[in-house]
Amino acid sequence: MQTKRSGNSRFPFCGCFEPEPTRRDFLAAASCTLVAALVASGINVESAPLLQFDTTRPISEQGTELFFALAGGDKVSMDPDNQIILIRQANRIMAFSLGCPHQNAALQWRSQDRRFQCPLHGAKFQADGNLQSGPATRAMDRFALRLDKGRVVVDIDKLYRSDQQKADWDSAMITLEEKTPR
Ligand code: FES
Repeated sequence: MQTKRSGNSRFPFCGCFEPEPTRRDFLAAASCTLVAALVASGINVESAPLLQFDTTRPISEQGTELFFALAGGDKVSMDPDNQIILIRQANRIMAFSLGCPHQNAALQWRSQDRRFQCPLHGAKFQADGNLQSGPATRAMDRFALRLDKGRVVVDIDKLYRSDQQKADWDSAMITLEEKTPR
């Protein structure tokens, strides 16, 4: 099962470990995440606005659940300590594992392409985490999440694979109610 990662966690590459990632590395990876969410949501990526991204950390924790502030608008946020990427886009929120589903390298965001890409072997993923091209053979893994009193709650003990838990993977998404204009 997925366990919480320590603040000193490192990104493994093919069984090895990278040097401690810098804040810049995390920001780059977060940027990649944003693009994937756009594509998955059926948004025209070419015309979609670039999303802001930043780093974040839980407001609080309870057991295996981490509570994050709900982003005020569309953006990508990365929690480097827990290796979680949060995306809010088009009223949808998803939480991904930062690790590539191939060999767990830290994924990067390619803002110009509006997608994620793995720096190790080049796998590409859409903004919603769906696989675009290998060598990875499945989508980015998604954490179970829910909304609670305006907070996004991510369960780090429930990480779903698209090839083994498709129904859970598909439903690992929060859809916010759209406000009807008056
Ligand atoms: S680790 Fe091989 S494609 Fe990502």
